[in-house]
Amino acid sequence: MRAALFLLSLALGVLAERPFINEPDTGLVFDEVEIGSLPSLADMIAVPDFEAAARHYMPTRNYSYYRTGSSGEYSYRRALEIFSEVRLRPRLLRDMRNVSLSASILGYDFTAPFFIAPAANAGLAHPLAELNLARAAGKTGILYAPSLSASKTIEEIAAAAAPGQIMFHQLYVSANKTKLASDLQRIEAAGYKGIFVTIDNPIHGIRQREARFGFSNTTNHDGGLTWAGFKALQEMTKLPLIPKGVQTVEDARLAVEAGVKAIYVSNHGGRQLDTSQQPLETLLEILRYAPEIFEQVDVFADGGVRYGTDVLKLLAMGVKMVGMGRPPMFANVFGEEGVTALVEVMRREVWVDAANLGVQDVKKIDPTYLNLKRLEQYMADL
Ligand code: FNR
Repeated sequence: MRAALFLLSLALGVLAERPFINEPDTGLVFDEVEIGSLPSLADMIAVPDFEAAARHYMPTRNYSYYRTGSSGEYSYRRALEIFSEVRLRPRLLRDMRNVSLSASILGYDFTAPFFIAPAANAGLAHPLAELNLARAAGKTGILYAPSLSASKTIEEIAAAAAPGQIMFHQLYVSANKTKLASDLQRIEAAGYKGIFVTIDNPIHGIRQREARFGFSNTTNHDGGLTWAGFKALQEMTKLPLIPKGVQTVEDARLAVEAGVKAIYVSNHGGRQLDTSQQPLETLLEILRYAPEIFEQVDVFADGGVRYGTDVLKLLAMGVKMVGMGRPPMFANVFGEEGVTALVEVMRREVWVDAANLGVQDVKKIDPTYLNLKRLEQYMADL
């Protein structure tokens, strides 16, 4: 008996020691590639490969800015791990010869249900910075939304768009009213079709990896922004304002009450409030306590998405469009071609995984494809 207990505690100990793996082993090796050089683009067969390549190639300072999470990086790490807590329930013996990946959000059509989320300073990876992201999105028919803190200007990025390409833009609400009015006016005039208003950082998060290299932790964001202020902001532009960073069912309800057409569930990739719950958990709250929200507004979500199955899980929860923040930034070390390759890697994964899940049309996926029992154990008792 004692021996059995000893063995059991040993086994539990081994399980508890399971290390966090930032870059899973995909078989990629850099034996022949010097630090500071790029491996072959043809070797990038999985989304995490692009991060491995970027870490190998980029100056540590620049890589750290992209990679950083906040504080103990618990949210960052959990964002990558939580997808494995949701199990898939494949439905079989269906005709899977034609799987549709096309997506539609706020009345705009795209070739895939995932997009390039706003992320600052693309110039840290490539001199053409956001222009590569815009062009790759145009070529592949997916949505891109540049950050207001981009390396290129609002107008330069708009000029890189293909004819008819739909792009949204991100906005930090400036405390300087003249700048705020000018930002809105420039985004509208440049032809962007929607605005993600980031609401999850009244103050820049505690980000050690970034601070170590002297990146500024001060912003001119309006820390006094409220839902009333958000509504007033909507009066200043014709474009739909979409609150980015919704993290609770309560705030999702307030957003709907404020009259928005869409919400963006995100915890800023674990870069703002550490240990904040994950988008999957926020979505489960909405699904359980206010499922009508998925009918009332379109839902965007991001955070830790690295595999086709991650995209499908978020879609099954009710999301219409799934964002990736870091992966395209890392892929940009290869320029436009790298970002295009990343999109195609992810597109293929979503297609293969949808077929094996029994989903003919990703627009029609629903929560019955998910086993949410593990996730429910984490759920707040509201
Ligand atoms: C971001 N993100 C972000 N969000 C935003 O609203 N405005 C911004 O300027 C930025 N800048 C930014 C820079 C970098 C380098 C990263 C990695 C992220 C957050 C981003 O839009 C998105 O929410 C997360 O990146 C999603 O998580 P993943 O995909 O990086 O795991």
